[in-house]
Amino acid sequence: METVVSGIRPTGNLHLGNYFGAVRNFLKMQENYNCFFFIADYHSLTTHPTPEDLHENVKQVLAEYLASGLDPEKSTLYIQSDLPEVAELNLLLSMNAYLGELERTTSFKEKARKQPENVNAGLLTYPVLMAADIIIHQASKVPVGKDQEQNLEMTRKFAGRFNRMYKVNYFTIPQPFNFGDNLIKIPGLDGTGKMGKSEGNGIYLADDPKAIRKKVMRAVTDSGPTEPNSEMSEPVRNLFTLLEVVSTPDTVEFFRDKYNSCEIRYGDLKKQLAEDIIKFTAPIRERINEIKADEAYLGKVVKMGKEKAHESASKTIKEVREIIGIKPFF
Ligand code: TYM
Repeated sequence: METVVSGIRPTGNLHLGNYFGAVRNFLKMQENYNCFFFIADYHSLTTHPTPEDLHENVKQVLAEYLASGLDPEKSTLYIQSDLPEVAELNLLLSMNAYLGELERTTSFKEKARKQPENVNAGLLTYPVLMAADIIIHQASKVPVGKDQEQNLEMTRKFAGRFNRMYKVNYFTIPQPFNFGDNLIKIPGLDGTGKMGKSEGNGIYLADDPKAIRKKVMRAVTDSGPTEPNSEMSEPVRNLFTLLEVVSTPDTVEFFRDKYNSCEIRYGDLKKQLAEDIIKFTAPIRERINEIKADEAYLGKVVKMGKEKAHESASKTIKEVREIIGIKPFF
């Protein structure tokens, strides 16, 4: 059976980008693949969260994973820092990751721009740790959104380089994966770019209906089409992209026709979009709160995940040490 690995940083609640870019794929994959889904708490340290926030966010994302339908019996659900093997593999891989290539990645450059007061080494080596997460379980597929494409390319590079360097065919080279044809990018409500945690343009699974309506009604649009069948501006196209993931095809077609005949009223489109998002997220939100209240259950899930993940990771580390030449004397 093919192995799948994917992770999410616990830097706040899950938003629709996380759900449609990643979690929705997890739900399908857990039925037919050997899946490892984890909460990337080491990665989230690049932004220096307080200890209280870190723990609270890990708990929140775990509850949101479970509420979304991830099944800890079917897949391995764990917390990254519960696997010290990942930290060791990160160190070993970093010896053949080069400064120039790390500095050139778009995500590093972007983050360095966003937090100029905190350009730490963890930001620079972020793709190395991500590679360790993936190849520690010998994953062949990684379900992620479009935003992680370059990071995954780095993983492929590091895994291939290790194989060549030690003249082995050891690490599996993973492929990015989405159930549609292309990796998906869920846009934000601010007119440009992706939905993200730091962008402040997101709708969260845990948002209540009032918050969702307010955010959607405030979304950026334009002054409306003036000619039939004209091309959409980016903010309007973004609203349609969101509509496509939460609404029925009929609804999408209805508003597309209205747009094409210049009869569209963005207020109506937004109202429909908000209601369809609420319909989709309301049952998940209810389960999040139930699951979060059940500490004993969360503890059981984390323990089980740690044990299963450790089994796979310790095998890899043992083999990697041998390949590299770190051999026991006794
Ligand atoms: P993170 O925490 O930013 O996002 C988690 C997942 O959600 C997807 N995603 C999106 N997909 C589509 N449209 C969007 N607007 C959008 N925003 C987020 C991301 O592609 C991702 O799949 N580096 C990773 C976490 C990570 C990881 C890994 C992922 C660490 N190790 C190993 C896969 C495998 C990150 O920061 O994702």
